[in-house]
Amino acid sequence: MKYVKLNDEVRVPVIGLGTWKANPGEVYQAIRWAIKLGYQHIDCAPIYGNEKEIGQALHDAMSEGDIRREDLFVVSKLWNDSHAEEDVLPALQQTLNDLQLDYLDLYLVHWPVAQRKGTVLPEVAEDMISLRELPLEITWAGMEQAQKKGLAKSIGVSNFGQKNLQNLIEKAEIVPAMNQIENHPLLQQNDLIDFCHKNMIAVTAYSPLGSGMHDGDRNLIENPVLKEIADRLNATTAQVMLAWQIARGVVSIPKSIHMERIKENFAAQNFELDDEDMKKIASLDEGYRFVDGSAFAKGDYSTGSIFA
Ligand SMILES: NC(=O)c1ccc[n+]([C@@H]2O[C@H](COP(=O)([O-])OP(=O)(O)OC[C@H]3O[C@@H](n4cnc5c(N)ncnc54)[C@H](OP(=O)(O)O)[C@@H]3O)[C@@H](O)[C@H]2O)c1
Repeated sequence: MKYVKLNDEVRVPVIGLGTWKANPGEVYQAIRWAIKLGYQHIDCAPIYGNEKEIGQALHDAMSEGDIRREDLFVVSKLWNDSHAEEDVLPALQQTLNDLQLDYLDLYLVHWPVAQRKGTVLPEVAEDMISLRELPLEITWAGMEQAQKKGLAKSIGVSNFGQKNLQNLIEKAEIVPAMNQIENHPLLQQNDLIDFCHKNMIAVTAYSPLGSGMHDGDRNLIENPVLKEIADRLNATTAQVMLAWQIARGVVSIPKSIHMERIKENFAAQNFELDDEDMKKIASLDEGYRFVDGSAFAKGDYSTGSIFA
């Protein structure tokens, strides 16, 4: 197993299992397979609507001796409607109850946007709260409390750009340990990753395979440049994308509910790319987002400002 070290010396397994769109009824089996295949790192969020079933799978995996709690690395995220400082701990406690855990290994602020309490996804501008009214450092103070209480071993953020990160670093007592961002060959975000690494913030790539989305020719699994590299290495295009992230020091959390793919993605750790392959993949960058944040582009927020 390969790891990336956080600024608090905690080690994160470089391949984790994503669980967005892994529905109740599917996700239990996916987690059980993943753990049996050697996965330690599981990426969750209450907005995915499946934390109770994941909790059952984690409980059963531990009680049947497949893994010990100290070898698991469980991540979850604070939803946007709980950004008020006093709402952070209750939201975290709900996630812990659902996951049947006493602590998380990493707790992330899911998006740098705030919504009115109780809104799942915003429908109108009034569902949003501006960052002037509820600044991210207020939310972060709640996150710091969570870490101090031992409810989250490490704390971090997600979907934060350089401006939001810089602002937070200046005001925070604890520097975020992680920034989880969309990252794949079409959206490489090199400047943001350099900024994070210089500031001792580790990076996790979400949607590392392109999220199963296709937009015309933008189908990463079928990409001819990745296929050529994969065929030469006797790998798959998914494995090439994940090996590329490992080579850049970035953690990945590919989602699958199929055992063969869960296994295939984990085995990406066994492949190494040479400089030529790295250059070929670098040339694929288009700055293209599959997850564009438009769901939150209401009121004071625009897609540009969210990722600033
Ligand atoms: N922080 C955030 O805002 C945020 C946003 C998005 C995602 N995430 C996290 O990141 C995780 C991963 O991102 P994602 O789910 O968007 O996309 P992804 O992992 O890039 O892609 C998942 C899609 O690829 C398919 N797939 C998986 N392995 C494959 C393989 N080896 N070959 C071909 N197809 C394969 C999956 O299908 P099957 O399941 O049918 O195999 C699914 O359709 C999420 O699950 C979630 O945990 C976080």
